[in-house]
Amino acid sequence: MDLKIKNVGEKDCVCEALILPFTEDSPVPYRNLCPSLSGLIKKVYGKEFRGRKNEVFLMPAPGDVRPARVLFAGLGKRAEVSPETVRQAGGKSAVYLRGLGIRETALSPVLLSSLGVSPAYFAEGALLGLYTYSRYRTEKENGTIKNMTVLSRPAKDLSSSLERVKTVASAVWFSRDLVNTPANDMTPAHLAKAAQSLKGKNLSVKVLERKDAQRLGMGSYLSVAKGSHEPPKFIILHYRGSAQAPVVLVGKSITFDSGGLSLKPAEGMEKMKYDMAGGAAVLGAIKAACESRLPVHLVGILPATENLPGGSATRPGDVVRAMDGTTIEITNTDAEGRLIVADAIAYGRRLKPRVIIDIATLTGACSIALGSEAIAMMGNDRKIIGQMQKSADAVFERVWEMPLYEEYAEYLKSDIADIKNAAGRNGSLVAAASFLGRFAGDTPWVHLDIAGTAWAEKERPYTPKGATGIGVRLLSQFIREIK
Ligand code: BES
Ligand code: MN
Ligand code: ZN
Repeated sequence: MDLKIKNVGEKDCVCEALILPFTEDSPVPYRNLCPSLSGLIKKVYGKEFRGRKNEVFLMPAPGDVRPARVLFAGLGKRAEVSPETVRQAGGKSAVYLRGLGIRETALSPVLLSSLGVSPAYFAEGALLGLYTYSRYRTEKENGTIKNMTVLSRPAKDLSSSLERVKTVASAVWFSRDLVNTPANDMTPAHLAKAAQSLKGKNLSVKVLERKDAQRLGMGSYLSVAKGSHEPPKFIILHYRGSAQAPVVLVGKSITFDSGGLSLKPAEGMEKMKYDMAGGAAVLGAIKAACESRLPVHLVGILPATENLPGGSATRPGDVVRAMDGTTIEITNTDAEGRLIVADAIAYGRRLKPRVIIDIATLTGACSIALGSEAIAMMGNDRKIIGQMQKSADAVFERVWEMPLYEEYAEYLKSDIADIKNAAGRNGSLVAAASFLGRFAGDTPWVHLDIAGTAWAEKERPYTPKGATGIGVRLLSQFIREIK
């Protein structure tokens, strides 16, 4: 869907559906519409349509105006309107209109502007909501909305926010596609190809093969790859938008997590194709940063491999050595995420970064603690944690901080090595973060566990079922605002 700005009045806009947002509890908010549109509003507002949150109501337009239909879109209580309620209304409206086969839409910005919320949020929700994944469907859907035209005078800040919304939404789509793709078509090599496809001016991509990783001493990462015939790919992206020390983004990229010899139960295992959602979020964020030409220096690191129980798989009890020299007793091969992220963090530290952010579908305990409503956040730097919190609230990819007490390190004491990779069930969300924190050392670092948020079991106003693309908007916002 394309976003446009056009300086015409509501009644003069040629479109199949004119979208009019409403709150629930205010006097008719549209003053300067023509008599026939005003008449239509009077007829339905407060009666069939009340303006409730995410309520949509379609009417044929009066014969003497150009739009063919009017879509009433509810925002809920006036005092509670926020960028997020507007995103949701955008998603709901767009999905509803698509279902009717409508192609040309127009949005009246009058009410939103009067509430101080940019119509760009409505467009953002629409774009995010219209995503579908049809790669394996023999019969494709019948198309989608072609245009959403904001009826406004040309204004620089509006056109630049619409531009940004388009860039970021397309990065979210890119990330969702990678995550939705089944593991037979999203191997480490496929993921490396997807990273290569982003190459361009200022953006370079390097892929380390197994032997390169061996030379670097990444015994922790490589131990996970041993049970699979798919060659591991350690993917590094470099976006040079400034000469400062880099922001390093590490994304867990297990293209399929069977658990390895500590095999997962059959039920739900098919979903473990989404265990590379962290890597997909990093690719999306770097794609958006590069397309927006942000003046930042970014390094993305995606340690990619499968976790399978083949004949040469790592055994529970094996001891391996990570790149930084730490020896690890692998007590559970299903705690593989921390093994690959540890070596990626160790690699990232060598680049002398300002900060390392890692994002990973790391623990089942994350979903148990927070469900699908928030990312679990832990880290060693109050300032970065505060900035991440702020970015999260702005984009409504919410984070909730969990503690990182030093006592948690004791959960991972091994009888024969420096540490072990898995403890008991208690505190397994924070123990996993504590494991990673050891590898970050004194480098400012924040860990984001997206196990509960990366996959949607039910559809939401602007998030269809399946891969959510979580982290793309959060990291994009964080990168834009970091000081
Ligand atoms: N990829 C999983 C975590 C996960 C589970 C993500 C469910 C999304 C949904 C991770 O590799 C894992 O298996 N973690 C184990 C660790 C345990 C063995 C210490 C877990 O959380 O059960
Ligand atoms: Mn696992
Ligand atoms: Zn995993």
